[in-house]
Amino acid sequence: MRILAIETSCDETAAAVVEAHGNTRPRFLVHSNVIASQIKVHRTFGGVVPTLAAREHTKNLTPVTRRALREARISLSRIDMLAVTQGPGLIPTLLIGTYFARMVSYLSGIPIVGVNHMEGHMYANFLHNKPVRFPVLALIVSGGHTQLVMMRRHLTYELLGETRDDAAGEAFDKVARLLNLPYPGGPEIARRAEGGNAKAYAFPRPMMHAQNFDFSFSGLKTAVRYALEGKRLNKKTVADVCASVEQAIVEVLIEKTLRALSLYQPKTVFLTGGVAANRLLRHTLAERIQEFSPRTEFYAPPVGTSTDNAAMIAAAAYMQHTRLRPPSGEVRVRGTASWKHVTPRANLPLVH
Ligand code: KG4
Ligand code: ZN
Repeated sequence: MRILAIETSCDETAAAVVEAHGNTRPRFLVHSNVIASQIKVHRTFGGVVPTLAAREHTKNLTPVTRRALREARISLSRIDMLAVTQGPGLIPTLLIGTYFARMVSYLSGIPIVGVNHMEGHMYANFLHNKPVRFPVLALIVSGGHTQLVMMRRHLTYELLGETRDDAAGEAFDKVARLLNLPYPGGPEIARRAEGGNAKAYAFPRPMMHAQNFDFSFSGLKTAVRYALEGKRLNKKTVADVCASVEQAIVEVLIEKTLRALSLYQPKTVFLTGGVAANRLLRHTLAERIQEFSPRTEFYAPPVGTSTDNAAMIAAAAYMQHTRLRPPSGEVRVRGTASWKHVTPRANLPLVH
């Protein structure tokens, strides 16, 4: 099955052509994965402006989709299924993507499947075609989400915990703003942290020892603001703050993931989402899992498919199609991903 996928949940206009085979062990061949970043447009404002992002998607969607088809050397007439991100994300940008995909579907008659963006991030870890043993424990860390999720089989998820305020990526982005670093802050902080001392500032590790799998990162930016009061932002201060903040975020994420690992004993751990591109997080988590539970497999997508892309949306759409129901020609109102909430200990539904 050849899938053309579209992703516009935030500030990347993305289109991909992915060929997929198999059912119990899906195999994916990524023919093209085109991403038009809007970083330059939003940089002036220090963050993503939803209406500007929507306007950029309107400009970019046709050329990006054409390029994805051209790079894949496939014409639209040979596509079997369309896939589009339908949420969560910025409403104005999602509307542009879903309407574009619907229109392609309407004009071509190709059926379409709507995909949950978080489910897409999860399936980024299936694009490499290595065998994945269930159950999987996933740490999904992006600009909008920080979640620990158990996946006992395909398309089935239990949300163990999530952030109560800012997401990990958001914390990186907000601290970067305090340091006058450009958007997006995560990669900038990571780069500057390399020359800094991670012990220079004792920033808080919020909720690290709380008996649950929730996170809280909003206090971190306040702590950074106080630490910077009356200080001149020279190269060393910036590098030290970056290293100390990165260390604080990474430590909390790893501590909670290891705790979930010891309680749920998954066979595989996934790291995914934009913050999974962070080298300190990837390497330290891989090392700690190896020490703590050597038989547990650890996967994180390559940097290009950690951050938002459309190949992961195609993979999730394929699983929906093969496992659940054939595409109906309609964008579904809700994704199939029902993120069932469970309390970590008693497995009772949490009321949010
Ligand atoms: O998944 P993603 O591309 O978009 C959302 O779904 O939100 O994640 C974007 C987030 C941004 O907050 C960005 O700062 C962060 O991922 N990010 C990083 C790194 N690369 C991207 N954070 C830390 N270190 C990185 N190397
Ligand atoms: Zn994302």
